[in-house]
Amino acid sequence: MTIMKGRAVRATATAAMLAVFGAPLAAEELFYVSGAVGNAVENFKTLVKPWEEATGNTVTLVPMPASTTDQFGQYRLWLAAGASDIDLYQTDVIWAPQLADHFVDLTEAAKDLAPQHFPSIIESQTVNGKLVALPIFTDAPALYYRKDLLDKYGKSPPKTWAELAETAKMIQDAERAEGKADLWGFVWQGNAYEGLTCNALEWVKSFGGGQIVEPDGTISINNENAVAALEAAKSWVGTISPDGVLAYQEEEARGVWQTGNAVFMRNWPYAYGLGNGDDSAVKGLFGVTTLPVGKEGDTSAATLGGWNVAVSKYSTKQEAAISLALYLAGPEAQKQRAIAESNLPTIISLYDDADIAAAQPIIPQWKDVFLNAVPRPSAPTLGKYNEVSAKFWSAVHSTLSGEGSAAENLELLEVDLTDLKGSGW
Ligand code: GLC
Repeated sequence: MTIMKGRAVRATATAAMLAVFGAPLAAEELFYVSGAVGNAVENFKTLVKPWEEATGNTVTLVPMPASTTDQFGQYRLWLAAGASDIDLYQTDVIWAPQLADHFVDLTEAAKDLAPQHFPSIIESQTVNGKLVALPIFTDAPALYYRKDLLDKYGKSPPKTWAELAETAKMIQDAERAEGKADLWGFVWQGNAYEGLTCNALEWVKSFGGGQIVEPDGTISINNENAVAALEAAKSWVGTISPDGVLAYQEEEARGVWQTGNAVFMRNWPYAYGLGNGDDSAVKGLFGVTTLPVGKEGDTSAATLGGWNVAVSKYSTKQEAAISLALYLAGPEAQKQRAIAESNLPTIISLYDDADIAAAQPIIPQWKDVFLNAVPRPSAPTLGKYNEVSAKFWSAVHSTLSGEGSAAENLELLEVDLTDLKGSGW
């Protein structure tokens, strides 16, 4: 038996990848647009290297703003203009119904790969039978907590939002008295953008207040439990959360947390690996658990997030772009991303992968959380989702800022959404 070494192993790997991804006639240079959060841009070069080597093509990442709302606005303009200089778009899980017409149907190309993914995630990217984008990772947030601080004060991770507020305040006051002047109890995403829709949906749903617009299209947001949820969140601003939280997105919250200045944080799994990085002040000091509930007996709610790769209909390099999409959504890239970025894979078998479990224990631990996560109402509201979400996050942001009570703002929101719905979504 011969043992293959170095070049021979690489040649064999390349041959195998060529069989999977196909050999293009001439080397292509592709452009991939994606939001820049965490270490995603930094890792991208490493992530795509095996595909570049196997195919001879190259890919340039065009980094976009971190906010999914800003990305959506920009992409919609480019796509409406039929921009041909961008070949692939990294797309949020909520965008499929709104952007479907601009992307290539990947059903045929992904016929062997799609069955390896969780069916519900493939389903979320399928619009009228067209596979609009291929999932590259899924998302469901965690409550990050400082184990060392909870231990020091004999506290457990909170089960209810009221308990969270109480523990956060107690530890914040005690630590400040010991000179930790910059410590805050709880950081999250309160900016007026899609991320606030995610946070507020979690409060509302876990208080038993529904999911804004129900799967059957009914507008449910104007109810007592939703009012109670928003009033609770308002009480955090300026007490356990800085006033500045009303301008925070994911990265601002992570900044406060990772410098050791928060007891609790709501964030997505990408913050887990970075929090345990060598340059992190909280390395090894924190745990993760599910988000709290309104009252005992209620169910915790995590908003379902996630990202996909779509091939532009206007790309002039579609064959190479489809090959890259298959690679990025495939097991090799998803494993690399899981280990390097602590992103949750969408390929079922990777939840039993020992390397992933060892590098990022949150991943196997989070399988049930994302499988039970609450979707935003993008499926029932179709092309109007972005407006629904914008109206919701505005009503929430006003409430948190003290512009009108939760009851007043949700009543107005209901009127607005009813108008927007008209005779049907
Ligand atoms: C995360 C989620 C995405 C969501 C966004 C909101 O990136 O994966 O689905 O829209 O956060 O900020």
